[in-house]
Amino acid sequence: MFNVLSVDDLSQDFLISLWDEAYDRKGKRNKKLNGKILTNLFYEPSTRTSSSFYSAMKLSGGDVIPINNVTFSSVSKGESLEDTVKTISQMCDLIVLRHNIAGSAKIASQVSGVPIINAGDGNSEHPTQTILDGYTIYHYFNKKIDNLNITLVGDLKNGRTVKSLVKLLTRFKNNKFNFVSPENLRFDGQLPPNSSEVSDINKVIEETDILYVTRVQKERGSKYNYELSIDQLDKIPKNSIVMHPFPRVTEIPSSFDKDPRAKYFDQIKFGVWCRQILLERILL
Ligand code: NCD
Repeated sequence: MFNVLSVDDLSQDFLISLWDEAYDRKGKRNKKLNGKILTNLFYEPSTRTSSSFYSAMKLSGGDVIPINNVTFSSVSKGESLEDTVKTISQMCDLIVLRHNIAGSAKIASQVSGVPIINAGDGNSEHPTQTILDGYTIYHYFNKKIDNLNITLVGDLKNGRTVKSLVKLLTRFKNNKFNFVSPENLRFDGQLPPNSSEVSDINKVIEETDILYVTRVQKERGSKYNYELSIDQLDKIPKNSIVMHPFPRVTEIPSSFDKDPRAKYFDQIKFGVWCRQILLERILL
């Protein structure tokens, strides 16, 4: 069974062929998943990820059981994750799980009768966000993911999208990383070779190809507020891009959205394209 629990489950060849197919198909409708059912099982809030999977499944003709708020399910009666997953897996072909505890996607995969896609487990990983983040880079850098200078900003300790993205980008050649955060929110994953930790973004912004901005994960106990100014953002080079997994709070002023370097809404569209292909590859 093909589970997607971590970026480690996705080989380079698999990703590149998925990205190429997503680029060619661009979310075009088909009936390939007619008769297949996906369950969105979300123990944490979501706007983009749950609706992106919903949209992707529908685009290929499949159906969705949307459990977007487990407080309205038997979880509120005390049902365990294991029992919930065993139950749901009797009714569908695939479960997309978001949970507040790191490692829960793995636990779910051990009891599930159908594949599990990890849509974020605590502060650990969010591999399908990385599929779309990687696609965005692939799309805007002429199908190359190497020799890039990547600046990651914000809550690097609890942001799971950063952890998964760094795993992916270290696999490609000659990427250089700048980790920008306050002391208490430092990246606590494996630091790649060729990386530097800095507290002042102004020291690295002018050499940045990809500025990856993240929100502070208050729900995981992180404390910090920050706001990049238009003047700071404007210092990134002309052909660079600004990414953000969203939701954004104060990190990027909305007046930057019309700047051609702002790619965070494209990321959302690309997420649907990529997830559609991923679902087809798992379910067919
Ligand atoms: C992220 C997440 O849930 O980890 N959101 C998303 O899926 N795009 C980022 C976040 O919540 O900050």
